[in-house]
Amino acid sequence: MLTVPEGRVTNSLLYEGKAKQIYTTDQPGVLLAVFKDDATAFNAQKRGTIQRKGQVNATISAHLFRKLTAAGIPNHFLDQPEPHALHLSQLRMIPLEVVVRNVVAGSLCTRTDLPRGQVLARPLVEYFYKNDRLGDPLLNNEHIALLGLVTMDELALIRTSALQVNEILSNFYQACGIRLIDFKLEYGWGDQGLTLGDELSPDNCRLWDMRDDRVLDKDRFRHDLGGVDESYQEVLARVLKL
Ligand code: TMP
Ligand code: ASP
Repeated sequence: MLTVPEGRVTNSLLYEGKAKQIYTTDQPGVLLAVFKDDATAFNAQKRGTIQRKGQVNATISAHLFRKLTAAGIPNHFLDQPEPHALHLSQLRMIPLEVVVRNVVAGSLCTRTDLPRGQVLARPLVEYFYKNDRLGDPLLNNEHIALLGLVTMDELALIRTSALQVNEILSNFYQACGIRLIDFKLEYGWGDQGLTLGDELSPDNCRLWDMRDDRVLDKDRFRHDLGGVDESYQEVLARVLKL
């Protein structure tokens, strides 16, 4: 049992994912997410550790969730009781990975042959089925309806929210001297209806330095580019300035 500030006692491990452990607390509906230094890629075929990633990702996520709260985007963030842990409100998660892209990179290159780095005329929203066994396949609206993951009206709400998040985070990162190339969001249902969950960190977005397009995100780990720990620290330092 782990005791954290504000008198919330952590009870049992509810879930362990690749990057986080989720514990219940003594407050109903409040969870504690403990961010790990472990890193995985390619559906956990590649494994490693990124120094201080837990604290860095928890701190960047907390900072960005606060910005989104201020901009009126409902999200699950409550507070950061420890450097590597966040209190979150419990959501009924939707098994979709919502990807927003501003610039061609990653799987969009391999699926379409569009050149890496091409700026998209408008943001592209994609949905992937959050299912490790299937390798998180791309879904279209009809697949989503077929699987009954959300209604088409709910999907429209998700898309609108994801595009708003893109606008807010792109402007924020731009002020940090960073281009927000693409990112992945996860949503759930909570007391306020559709609510943004998961984390907002260099693990689930692509961030390129505005000066020279140097990669500052998890692609450094995925593709053995070196300087992984330093890049995460650099993003944290730039984010905390604003
Ligand atoms: P992709 O280009 O590999 O489809 O990735 C799109 C975005 O989603 C990118 O910012 C990285 C993020 N992402 C995750 O957060 N988790 C994942 O498992 C994958 C494959 C990508
Ligand atoms: N997090 C994912 C995994 O390990 C993949 C990735 O981020 O590239 O499976």
